[in-house]
Amino acid sequence: SARRRKIVAGNWKMNKTVPEALALVRELRGPLSSVGDVVEVVLAPPFVALQPLHVALEGAPFQLAGQNCHWEASGAFTGEVSAPMLAELGCAYVIVGHSERRQLFGETDETVNKKARAVRDAKMTPIICVGETLVERESDRTLEVVERQVRGALAGFEAKEVAGFVLAYEPVWAIGTGRNASSAQAQEVHAAIRGLVGRLYDGETAGRVRIQYGGSVKPDNAAELLGQPDVDGALVGGASLKAGDFAAIVKAAT
Ligand code: G3P
Repeated sequence: SARRRKIVAGNWKMNKTVPEALALVRELRGPLSSVGDVVEVVLAPPFVALQPLHVALEGAPFQLAGQNCHWEASGAFTGEVSAPMLAELGCAYVIVGHSERRQLFGETDETVNKKARAVRDAKMTPIICVGETLVERESDRTLEVVERQVRGALAGFEAKEVAGFVLAYEPVWAIGTGRNASSAQAQEVHAAIRGLVGRLYDGETAGRVRIQYGGSVKPDNAAELLGQPDVDGALVGGASLKAGDFAAIVKAAT
């Protein structure tokens, strides 16, 4: 895992107006000014805050991410935002397949795959989210579900592309519940995902792909989760909305 640079991303979801977004970034700059080389810090604000943050973050050690995109580059898709549009605003990453999008907005393994392709075509990196529901975990289907989601998302991609991707394991029952996966539970699934990437591609690709954990990551559990050999970072929701908490989580990755 020493070869993989840690990556901590804040998924703000549908939170923060533009003035609030600017204020949060101002608060993060000081505490995180020096961690940029050790850990990659990514902020995923709502679409409307991307351009103002792109301007405000000039020279700051933070990367921007979209929270979603459409798979077509342009056209008659009212209300949608395309990957090239996000790239043009300075996004380096786009989150695809978040469980909220799968559950509330009809995202499927197939649309996740198409979106990941669009992100890649626009020369950005997808952060591909996977994770089981509580019912699936309780019926011992966690690895089956997660493997289906990973296979679906990666369909048609080559090893050299996948090596640069970020996968995010987010058990649905841990998202926004305050009930994080234990470090052992996270490590088990992360190792299984890496093993699958190794079978689908090769050992080199499996060793390079980064796998974040997401689901109730907080300052007090971050170090333990991030200390697992196959946990390469965190995808943080609620705690990324508070500068102090987010900065503490990033520091736990150093
Ligand atoms: O994408 C991150 C997210 O789903 C986790 O949310 O609030 O449990 O940290 P939260």
